[in-house]
Amino acid sequence: MRAFPKTKATVVAALMTSATMVAADDVEVLHWWTSGGEAAALNVLKQDLEGQGIGWTDMPVAGGGGEQAMTVLRARVTAGNAPTAVQGLGFDILDWGKEGALADLNEVAAKEGWDEVVPDALKAFAKVDGKWVSAPVNVHSTNWVWANKSVLDANGIAVPTSWEDFTAALETLKAAGITPIAHGGQAWQEATVFDAVAMSVLGPDGYKAAFVDLDEATLGSDAMKEAFDRMAVIRANVDDNFSGRDWNLATAMVINGEAGFQMMGDWAKGEFLNAGKVPGEDFLCFRFPGTADQVTFNADQFMMFDQGGPVSAEQAALASAILSPSFQSAFNVVKGSVPARTDVSDADFDACGKQGMKDLAAAAASGNLFGSMAHGHAAPASVKNAIYDVVTAHFNGEFDSETAVDELVDAVSIAK
Ligand code: GAL
Repeated sequence: MRAFPKTKATVVAALMTSATMVAADDVEVLHWWTSGGEAAALNVLKQDLEGQGIGWTDMPVAGGGGEQAMTVLRARVTAGNAPTAVQGLGFDILDWGKEGALADLNEVAAKEGWDEVVPDALKAFAKVDGKWVSAPVNVHSTNWVWANKSVLDANGIAVPTSWEDFTAALETLKAAGITPIAHGGQAWQEATVFDAVAMSVLGPDGYKAAFVDLDEATLGSDAMKEAFDRMAVIRANVDDNFSGRDWNLATAMVINGEAGFQMMGDWAKGEFLNAGKVPGEDFLCFRFPGTADQVTFNADQFMMFDQGGPVSAEQAALASAILSPSFQSAFNVVKGSVPARTDVSDADFDACGKQGMKDLAAAAASGNLFGSMAHGHAAPASVKNAIYDVVTAHFNGEFDSETAVDELVDAVSIAK
């Protein structure tokens, strides 16, 4: 039982405070952050809200990349029971916004000046018809490689800066009996690897033509065939038990030295940090060879689903908490991503985080910042899923690179 102070004035004040505390409803949040590193980052947000008297009803839906979460979301919305807030990516946010399913965040956005500090690349996926419909949490990027430093050192491997260096390193590790590439055999993970491989072969103009403009000639080009040939090389360097493995278990293989590399978005860094590992000492982070000047990004955002009226006080408080500079630093330091605001200091970020922030600013300035195809920031879900199907079928040996290119052209032309 809460002990109330004795004098009348302080009793009234205390009652008011607790009344306010009780009045604030919980927020129910649907998300797919279920790995160790993701949960650690999410706790930063939960604690931030609890400090404001807003309770958190957690609705985790496991499944990297969010496909399963989006399936559950559609069922909830169809049943007329949308969660308060939902983790979402890129074109999925725009689809829900255009459906009119999302609350209008313009009041809190204007009060807090979001338009001035959130980069255009994120605003493109957070606003519909001039209305803010989601709160950007971070900026992840997918063209990273994570390496176990002692494994590379023991085998005399320097950070590879070309495809040839990379394949030579894979051969060295294979000869040493170490799994060269830790990988989880799930379509979204193959697509995440394909983001980087395609960028390295097609270059920025080719990547945009293929996955943003859906240009048939580029999708069917010899360069695209070369990208699939390189995917076959990567397939030849994963272990026999890769199929169905969750991404964070592949990261654990690099953490424990069972594998040399993992090609994954920088949410993988959250797993290294959660395991107490230090960049530059225990692990290395570097851009996939051939993509050093590019960033293929995906920003996590929280969509505030319309609860039958203007945005609720809790939704506005959640959005405000997410965009606060202090939270933006505290959360992204743990998550492995970089802030969704351009005015957050990199002081608290480790070497990989600092590089990520530097890379993002440089890529945005030089026209080398592109939405990740694999994580819903290049084309709508129907196209993304069509590409998933072709890339994963090829990775699993269902057809050769020549056929993969033809399948890709057909699948995208049907899906778009
Ligand atoms: C991405 C998401 C990341 C992380 C990753 C693995 O789509 O942006 O925050 O959750 O999936 O599940």
